[in-house]
Amino acid sequence: MCDSVDVFAEWKDLATDYKQLENSNKVYQEKLNELAGYQKKCTDGIHHQKYRMDIIKQNLKSVPRTAENAEKIKELEENLIKQSAHLYHIEQTLPKQNGVYLKIILGNVNVSILNKEEKFKYKDEYEKFKLIISIISFVLAALNIIFNFRPLELIYIFLLVWYYCTLTIRESILKVNGSRIKGWWRMHHFISTVAAGILLIWPDMITWNQFRTQFMYFNAYISVVQYLQFIYQSGVLYRLKALGERHNMDITIEGFHSWMWRGLSFLIPFLFGGYLFQLYNAYVLFQLSYEATATWHVYVLSVIFLIIFTGNTVTTLMVIPSKKWEKMKNEYSILDFLSQLSKKVRENGNNGKKNE
Ligand code: COA
Repeated sequence: MCDSVDVFAEWKDLATDYKQLENSNKVYQEKLNELAGYQKKCTDGIHHQKYRMDIIKQNLKSVPRTAENAEKIKELEENLIKQSAHLYHIEQTLPKQNGVYLKIILGNVNVSILNKEEKFKYKDEYEKFKLIISIISFVLAALNIIFNFRPLELIYIFLLVWYYCTLTIRESILKVNGSRIKGWWRMHHFISTVAAGILLIWPDMITWNQFRTQFMYFNAYISVVQYLQFIYQSGVLYRLKALGERHNMDITIEGFHSWMWRGLSFLIPFLFGGYLFQLYNAYVLFQLSYEATATWHVYVLSVIFLIIFTGNTVTTLMVIPSKKWEKMKNEYSILDFLSQLSKKVRENGNNGKKNE
């Protein structure tokens, strides 16, 4: 009897807790609505800023650069770059719509990551995923060089189809979350998925046997290059994170850029080695396409290797000048940080005086 009384009292007690939960949930929902309102306001604000900045940029072109206004024009141009950097940072805190590809694959689910730490983790995971697969790829390519065993070949090529397909999805999510990954690298992974698919259905005939060893050596080489890319990309990622952390002054913008240039100078010869290998693959496949037993796969793969060679070479050559603009953008982030810091110091000083 005593137990049943406790049960009723407990239920009553729980009902009070539920009331509290209900209130918290109400506040939470109100805040969510408020948040959505602010998100919309900020998104509209960004569009407005960009629209007007574009007009200003256009009109600035027609302003004559006379001796008296040259300084003002330069200042305005710098302010426009600075403002673009600020807008980019604001954009990173707002949710974005999925692109067409993600909409088709995932539907209209929200994949925006609004927290900087989580964004970093996602990118870090992406780089580690690529590293693990390139290690597996190296081992499988080496095994395929040693053993000519069709099932092993097919397992490897199927892994490539799955890997490149997965990359396209992960990179689309990174793009939604503000990654500045160039269109070509994403396109490259779409094309690689197609190429791996064609390799998978390439009939096991004379032409394939003439090409397979070269293809496996190519993949082993690419795996090594991917390992080097991992070292470079994770170095960039951790250093950028350190730069972005508002309390971390251990790393300077100059230090970061000199590290980046050293990393790039080391990596680039290996990258171009890979591109020459791609061109050589295109050439060998083109020669093979004239063989009597050659199927359409040979010619199409030759064209694909040529496209990949061209896209990679052009994009990598374009990266170097684009680094100059990036340097400026980072400098402005730091300038922004310093101006915010001095503003805070001033505010604290004023508060201190008021309290005295
Ligand atoms: N794949 C995926 N993401 C890439 C990428 C690639 N090949 N190249 C650059 N990115 C990403 C960067 O991580 C960065 O992301 P973030 O905005 O989320 O921080 C963004 O794109 C902008 O990078 P960017 O400043 O243009 O270049 P970078 O300094 O990071 O890298 C290279 C420059 C040249 C080292 C890099 O593009 C690269 O390794 N390219 C070679 C790829 C290749 O040829 N692969 C085939 C091997 S033979």
